Amino acid sequence: MSTDDTPTPALNLWHHARVATMTPDRPWGWIDIGALVTEGPTLRWVGPEDQLPPELRAQVTTTHDLSNAVVTPGLIDGHTHLVYGGQRAHEFELRLQGATYEEIARAGGGIRSTVAATRGASEATLHTLALHRARTLLADGVTTIEIKSGYGLSLEDEARCLRVARQIGRELPITVRTTSLAAHALPPEFEGRADTYIDAVCTWLPQWHAQGLVDAVDAFCERMAFTPAQVQRVFEAARALALPVKLHAEQLSDSGGAALAASYGALSCDHLEYLSVDGIQAMARAGTVAMLLPGAFYYLRETRRPPIESLRAAGVPMAIATDHNPGSSPALSLTLMLNMACTLFQLTPEEALAGATRHAATALDLQDTHGTLEPGKRADFVVWDVGHPRELAYRFGHSPVLRVVAGGQEVSR
Ligand code: NIG
Ligand code: FE
Repeated sequence: MSTDDTPTPALNLWHHARVATMTPDRPWGWIDIGALVTEGPTLRWVGPEDQLPPELRAQVTTTHDLSNAVVTPGLIDGHTHLVYGGQRAHEFELRLQGATYEEIARAGGGIRSTVAATRGASEATLHTLALHRARTLLADGVTTIEIKSGYGLSLEDEARCLRVARQIGRELPITVRTTSLAAHALPPEFEGRADTYIDAVCTWLPQWHAQGLVDAVDAFCERMAFTPAQVQRVFEAARALALPVKLHAEQLSDSGGAALAASYGALSCDHLEYLSVDGIQAMARAGTVAMLLPGAFYYLRETRRPPIESLRAAGVPMAIATDHNPGSSPALSLTLMLNMACTLFQLTPEEALAGATRHAATALDLQDTHGTLEPGKRADFVVWDVGHPRELAYRFGHSPVLRVVAGGQEVSR
């Protein structure tokens, strides 16, 4: 104890590391022989080991030798639909025989079939399923996850899914951001009455918000889902609650959704295969992140890539996520998405990792606390069995995770 009776903090030193801090001031934010000092859940110091202040080293209570392994920020999966019942392997077979994603949805399959399975599952079952998925992501180095609702589509069924998402954030040492995606698809009881459904969503949103269940609001703007005018009404309801918005935009066609979302200061626009020049410019002006989802592009066997070169030229930050969902991206590996972002979208390995760390943090409005390894930020980091962080994107199908530290605590595996 110090003289004023405040407890002396326990400091942990993690050293002999090759550190990709992912700060933007130099490539990879690289430190060749680096060290990190954690104090409880927070990073106290990060830098070249020979510059560690002696008075700080003297306070260290536990030392971890990382044997020259590479350390990166904990990965951030900024777009998932983690809470749902059932699976859609049969639709996968149908698509292989030539049916399209849209045709299956119009025939009552697609999102609606997952809505039926989700409504038919107990909250305990939804929790068990989603917890397993979150643990799988965590084992692959993901320490922050955005989780959307969107398979309940009623006041109570959406609330159940959001409660499950919140519960996972309490149970695992990860940061969870919840997003209401009630405007995902039209539930069958509102068939032919999309505007009435949107009215309902606008009255439900304040109720979910009052229960502390919502960090942001999303919608699916597409000819098979909701029009820009309908999305705008949802965004107005979000604005009235001071909730940030984001949008599934321009995935299958250009409906101008990205420009609309940017006009509401959207945190991110997601998918973006059909994004127009106007959409890019609106996103650049608003500081909106482009959330790229190579898993959905791959799985739906899309051929039109998001306009990567134009996004890069316009200075729009590009994030990468799994888009985990049972229909268009049943993927549970963000490291696989790093590889796909490079092979399918031609991001550089450094852009891909920045997309799963620094830019993903911005997309979740967590840039002050997450996404890079800097003093004062949360002590979320991953120790990898690689010689250089570019190898994280180079490999696929197996994960070189050695250790995951979340909030300063090593996660047991
Ligand atoms: O992000 N695009 C809309 N939503 C999901 C897919 C949902 C589903 O097919 O179940 C997506 O791809
Ligand atoms: Fe999605």
